[in-house]
Amino acid sequence: MTAQIINGKELIPSVRAQIAEEVRELTGQGVKPGLAVVLVGDDQASAVYVRNKAKSCEEVGIYSEVHRLPGETTQEELLKLVAQLNAADNIHGILVQLPLPKHIEEKAVIDAIRADKDVDCFHPINVGNLMIGDDGFLPCTPSGVMEILRRTGVSVAGKKAVVIGRSNIVGKPMALLLLREHATVTVCHSRTANMEEITREADILVVAIGKAKFVKRSFVKPGAVVIDVGMNRDENGKLCGDVDFDDVKEAAGVITPVPGVVGPMTITMLLQNTLEAARRLHQAAVKA
Ligand code: GUN
Repeated sequence: MTAQIINGKELIPSVRAQIAEEVRELTGQGVKPGLAVVLVGDDQASAVYVRNKAKSCEEVGIYSEVHRLPGETTQEELLKLVAQLNAADNIHGILVQLPLPKHIEEKAVIDAIRADKDVDCFHPINVGNLMIGDDGFLPCTPSGVMEILRRTGVSVAGKKAVVIGRSNIVGKPMALLLLREHATVTVCHSRTANMEEITREADILVVAIGKAKFVKRSFVKPGAVVIDVGMNRDENGKLCGDVDFDDVKEAAGVITPVPGVVGPMTITMLLQNTLEAARRLHQAAVKA
């Protein structure tokens, strides 16, 4: 059996077109959504992600500004910039690209971003709302995965879902979103014993462990849906995911290639959150 390979070039444009339409409508009402992206230091991968985010904003009509700060920037200087962006009326979403240089405490920076501009959904208030299922921002990568499942016609309710990885950015919120859609969810991680036994039970397997080609065919139940969140370089310097694509595609029912699906869908959810932030901030200002 060979898997259905999800095609990002077919999937992503229709989602972005819908966002662009809604951005046009809101802009017509005098509110142009705006995103500020902050990059500290010269990490090459982060620089590429940030460029892609700004370019994607432009494509759908969202205003964006990128603040590139040197690696020696102090925490105090960064917090000062965050405070300015918190107060800026034309900025509805703020994203500080992680990881930050070691001398800056990530938590202090995340906590300083206004919760109603936290389009990453990293602020404790937004994480808390996510946990209890209240309305609020959804974290971009996990909500992108849910969107991929929805648009591929994969039903989640009642299914066994396994998430490999327990990061705050992907693994933990991914498990919460799958649970919200009524999956039975197991989280595996680097200390999990007999991981293959667990993952072989999964109808839906989401992999975010950050190790190139970690998941082999032996991890996958025949016909399972395999979503690869990884972004790594293989031994030849070529981009690859956490799933050994060529091996696993022979067993899976549905699989996402890397690059091309989860990455662009994550950015699409960032655009969606920025639009939502602009809508909510505008409504709050009208009421005030
Ligand atoms: N670094 C890797 N992924 C992300 C993300 O989704 N948001 C931010 N801010 N930094 C990241």
